[in-house]
Amino acid sequence: MIINMPIETGSYDIHLDFNSMNDLKSYTKNYQEVFVITDEILYHIHAKRLIESLEKDPIFEVVKSGESSKSFITYESVINSLISKGIKRNSLIIAFGGGVIGDLAGFVSATLYRGIDYIQIPTSLLSMIDSSIGGKTGINTKQGKNLVGAFYTPKAVIIDPVFLETLPDKEYKNGMAEIIKAAMIKDSILFEKLENNSIGLLEMLERSILVKKHIVDLDPKEENLRMLLNFGHSFGHAIEQKSGYTTPHGFAVAEGMVLAVKTGIKLNITNKMVLKRMHNVMDKYDLGQLKEEPLKLIDQLLFDKKFKNGKLNLILVKDIGDSIIYPITKEEIYECYHKETH
Ligand SMILES: NC(=O)c1ccc[n+]([C@@H]2O[C@H](COP(=O)([O-])OP(=O)(O)OC[C@H]3O[C@@H](n4cnc5c(N)ncnc54)[C@H](O)[C@@H]3O)[C@@H](O)[C@H]2O)c1
Repeated sequence: MIINMPIETGSYDIHLDFNSMNDLKSYTKNYQEVFVITDEILYHIHAKRLIESLEKDPIFEVVKSGESSKSFITYESVINSLISKGIKRNSLIIAFGGGVIGDLAGFVSATLYRGIDYIQIPTSLLSMIDSSIGGKTGINTKQGKNLVGAFYTPKAVIIDPVFLETLPDKEYKNGMAEIIKAAMIKDSILFEKLENNSIGLLEMLERSILVKKHIVDLDPKEENLRMLLNFGHSFGHAIEQKSGYTTPHGFAVAEGMVLAVKTGIKLNITNKMVLKRMHNVMDKYDLGQLKEEPLKLIDQLLFDKKFKNGKLNLILVKDIGDSIIYPITKEEIYECYHKETH
């Protein structure tokens, strides 16, 4: 199946299917040279499959696996290496990997020679339904994640779920947390299907991608509505920080969503039934439950730099599939949890 991203977001096709790698040649045939940016793990496991999907051998640029590759150092070394290997303004770059590779290779493509065509082939669950959709690219700085980047849309996104066969369980769960998030903010049918175990992989991917597409279409440059995608993430970041980054991102987001639901209930915004259903779904996908004392996390959250003019745009749900942006002060958050202890 093909999902088209409209003009405002660059007008490109997302190919989603088993065997969608067969569609790759129709894009690459017009380029003299094809360069692939990937990480060591993907190169080791799947380079052969990628080469088989191309007419001629590409030139590989392989970086270390993991978040540390979204850095200035790796960015610079990739740029220098691509230039020395002969990349030209009219070459093609393929980003082949998870969200780290998509963000790094997308940013390299956006900036080298002021912009080279690129294609995303996401291989992790998270990158298939989230990071490869919407044109955000970037790297991290010492001060924080994704602080340097560009909105730069690919020529196509090729999603072939076959790659998920080799994805480690922990990474699969990271992606599942984002799928549950998509359901919570905009797709109650997806949520019901997850609850009832009545959804196949392709439909689950499609519905999650459509949630992201819908929100990105409404707010391509992240000026307002795109914030809805941060559901669970403010608390999630607090959980990650509190654990010294030992809690995997997906678990932190899942726990962050529970905390956001609890907060919404305390503020009389969220339907009380949502909490039970959230817990059920998290159990089903083995995403763990909130272990930290909410108040301790709130303390952590209060240090969040995202507070602007004393308020944080917290994402809450009224009900499953119905999310809102709720500007809230530190005092309000603290107060609603403080009451609980008396
Ligand atoms: N641009 C955006 O809109 C956006 C949105 C969400 C997240 N992100 C970014 O995405 C990144 C996280 O992405 P991620 O979770 O994919 O991390 P990742 O790219 O580090 O991949 C996770 C791990 O899985 C491995 N892997 C990936 N696909 C595999 C496969 N098919 N088989 C075996 N191993 C495989 C990778 O080598 C890596 O070790 C973060 O940097 C985050 O900031 C970006």
